[in-house]
Amino acid sequence: MIIAPKIRGFICLTAHPEGCAQNVLNQINYVKSKGPIDGPKKVLVIGASTGFGLSSRITSAFGSNASTIGVYFEKPPAPGKTASAGWYNTAAFEAQAHEAGLYAKSINGDAFSKEIKEKTLELIKADLGQIDLVIYSLASPKRVHPVTGVVHNSVLKPIGEVYTNKTVDFHTGIVSDISIQPAGGDDIENTIAVMGGEDWAMWIDELKAANLLAPGATTVAYSYIGPTLTEAVYRKGTIGRAKDHLEATAFEIAEKLKDINGKAYVSVNKALVTQASSAIPVIPLYISLLYKIMKAEGIHEGCIEQIQRLFKDRLYTGAEVLTDDKGRIRVDDLEMRDDVQAQIATLWSEATTESLPAIGDLAGYKKDFLNLFGFDVAGVDYDADVNEMVEISGLV
Ligand code: NAI
Ligand code: NA
Repeated sequence: MIIAPKIRGFICLTAHPEGCAQNVLNQINYVKSKGPIDGPKKVLVIGASTGFGLSSRITSAFGSNASTIGVYFEKPPAPGKTASAGWYNTAAFEAQAHEAGLYAKSINGDAFSKEIKEKTLELIKADLGQIDLVIYSLASPKRVHPVTGVVHNSVLKPIGEVYTNKTVDFHTGIVSDISIQPAGGDDIENTIAVMGGEDWAMWIDELKAANLLAPGATTVAYSYIGPTLTEAVYRKGTIGRAKDHLEATAFEIAEKLKDINGKAYVSVNKALVTQASSAIPVIPLYISLLYKIMKAEGIHEGCIEQIQRLFKDRLYTGAEVLTDDKGRIRVDDLEMRDDVQAQIATLWSEATTESLPAIGDLAGYKKDFLNLFGFDVAGVDYDADVNEMVEISGLV
């Protein structure tokens, strides 16, 4: 079929298999171009099909020749209906990994569930024995609690008072003010239940109890801080509470891993266009200004540049892992540079529908958004008939 983007708000209902495959290949080539990393050998990535998780899997495999198991929740294709992007990304990754002689298998299902955890543990037991790195990179709007059965929905709301600020509709380029009502009811608890650290700890507890963590094993989950500008809706909002919980969980997990000399970290990453971040109000305007400045300074990074640097310059240097005063790894250092943030603060006050195309990188935002789904990728023929029924070779 010939596949075009079908955009509805913050999502695209279609995905292009060839475009997704090209994106994956570009990431693989980037990692290879940066040389080998003396990194992990057997890796489990939870949330492995898109965004930071996919880049973590690619960096493990093609930077360190690691065997990888990926867990994700993606929609398979049906005749005449495309799969979700993460499906095609994984198909491409596994094809490349297998061609390179690397072990790569995956499990598609709800990582929050008991069943998917059990299935993953069985696979590790049968194929890998013990793993030495667990990346936790889930971003989900909801979680069915495996013990209580309660469905928790995460929300992106300020806490305490109404928050009003500028935002941009990145499809139309229209800059407007939006007001977001504060969290009410169980919004905070629910968001913590979905995006906090409870499920990460459950994974590690189960892996450890089954003796599937190698001595010295490391686990990393991803967090975000960002500037004062977005604080009310991000770091001091409901999602920020979940990130506080996630960061606190790292210390609890680290404590539990002491007897095997294991380590648990949160890495604070840069703001990037992903399926998760495009749904957060205000953030798209911030990102379009950030991209413009970081590109002009020559310090812009995407997911793969971030994660390659995380592995090479933070996790696997052969020395002690560098952290901030709260024990967090920081690869948001370039985003948070004083000069970068000062420029954003100035541009923020100037941003209007008329000025944004010049002062912000709206075009870069849009392109990255389309790229998430395999569209607008250089070298891909979008007029060509492509097979939507792509299989994932290592799917268990
Ligand atoms: P993403 O949306 O690209 O990736 C989410 C992954 O989780 C996908 O592989 C998806 O299949 C998987 N997933 C979602 N629900 C699942 C479920 N129930 N069971 C199994 N898999 C499931 O998101 P992104 O942006 O890569 O986010 C990953 C982490 O990085 C999140 O913790 C996010 O807060 C964090 N982060 C994101 C930043 C950004 O700007 N995008 C910045 C800093 C941190
Ligand atoms: Na991810």
